[in-house]
Amino acid sequence: IEKGDLLYTGKAKEMYTTNDPAVLWVDYLDQATALNGKRKVAIDQKGLLNNRISSLIFQDLARHGIPNHFIKQLSDHVQLVKRVKMIPLETVVRNAASGSFERKFAVPHLTKFTQPVLEFFYKSDALDDPFINDSQVAALQVADQATVAEMKRQALLVNDRLKTIFAEMGVQLVDFKIEFGLTADGQVVLADEISPDSCRLVDNQTHQSLDKDVFRKNLGDLTTVYQEVLQRLATVEEGG
Ligand code: C5P
Repeated sequence: IEKGDLLYTGKAKEMYTTNDPAVLWVDYLDQATALNGKRKVAIDQKGLLNNRISSLIFQDLARHGIPNHFIKQLSDHVQLVKRVKMIPLETVVRNAASGSFERKFAVPHLTKFTQPVLEFFYKSDALDDPFINDSQVAALQVADQATVAEMKRQALLVNDRLKTIFAEMGVQLVDFKIEFGLTADGQVVLADEISPDSCRLVDNQTHQSLDKDVFRKNLGDLTTVYQEVLQRLATVEEGG
């Protein structure tokens, strides 16, 4: 497979076309951003770590009946994915209060929910990714009702599987963000990445954050934390 033209530069990834029109080339960058890109810092090994973590998680989800855009990891920083039309929504699932939920409703940090909370945010840097509800999604024609229902269904399945994986790693899955795309024939498919950049993870023993909050809140060295996540994930996924 050959790398083609730059399609899109994200905050932590670059997407390229390939000589196969159905396949995209994703470069995971060694950088982190916060405040919707307003703060950007180079971080040693971050691309490699997120590429590996995301690859292992997507493969696990596929094995557990949740198809997704992942094809294969090509090298330390590169993975190949199926080309889909991205739906401009961030789907957030929460198992406990943190981040924007905690701020918005003034509930104690890590209050556990009896059932998962599902939220959508409209992807727009200019608007700072505002919260959007189902009828607003319909009004703006961002996605049709069946697509929204399918995103919710898959998001809850992803949550169930991720909770299990992270529990085996001694980690609480507090919340996470995923994104979906549409295939040419209109199927909703999980895309983007799943990594400590897009999840909140808390160590069951130490109660330390094992995710991007380390960077957002200046809690320590992000690389060390992501290495720890990869090591535990590899133990669960590969037996070592
Ligand atoms: O900030 P908030 O509490 O709404 O974030 C919920 C979850 O979504 C967190 O796991 C966070 O890492 C993730 N998220 C993300 N990208 C964003 C916003 C939130 O991955 N732009």
